[in-house]
Amino acid sequence: MENEKTHKKNIPFFKIILGVALLGFIVLVITGKKTWYSEDAPIEILSDMDNQFKAKPQVGSTFFANRAADQTVIPNTVPRDGVAYPLEKPDFERADSVIGANPLQPTDFVLARGQNRFEALCAPCHNNDGKGNGTVVEKGFQNPPSLLDEHAVGLSDAHLFHIISVGQNIMPGYGDKLNMNDRWTVVHYIRSLQAKR
Ligand code: HEC
Repeated sequence: MENEKTHKKNIPFFKIILGVALLGFIVLVITGKKTWYSEDAPIEILSDMDNQFKAKPQVGSTFFANRAADQTVIPNTVPRDGVAYPLEKPDFERADSVIGANPLQPTDFVLARGQNRFEALCAPCHNNDGKGNGTVVEKGFQNPPSLLDEHAVGLSDAHLFHIISVGQNIMPGYGDKLNMNDRWTVVHYIRSLQAKR
């Protein structure tokens, strides 16, 4: 009799907690929040815009025929907000007359932008100080000449601009990654590094 009474009151807390935990776990697995065995996309209950129809850099694409998300620029075309570059790659002699002087003033803002772009795109090879022992060089890449040497100091602004735009020998061009204004800010920044040497 006494036994039966206690038995009736006995709510199986442990089993309920275990059941809830198990359920939660199953939900997490199904929604892909807890996965350790599958590369497949999870079943999405609330997608929260996790998956979008867009191309990510360096990732394959099923949209383009060549299966690359990064598409190279079509030859002889100019982007909508871009300008046609006036010089061919080896045309260094005409750089001064065709490209002309730096249209920007070396304000604090311009120099800060130049530094930001230089340290992001040039420093891997040329190093933050411009002397040419960047991280890539430490890994075995041919070290570029110091931008603080007489030779680089002697190059005109237009010549520097042209090198940045189209590259020189094994240095790739940055015309597709830096718009014209950004290239000029980098020229100003190189000059400011040279002034401090
Ligand atoms: C992948 C490495 C690499 C990157 C990144 C790079 N450069 Fe270069 N750069 C070189 C190499 C190597 C040379 C020497 C090329 C040669 O032999 O003519 C060079 C040469 C130059 C020269 C000519 C120096 C001289 O005295 O002749 C300038 C100016 C220059 N780079 C500026 C830049 C700027 C500005 C950036 C960033 C927008 C940049 N470089 C990014 C590797 C690089």
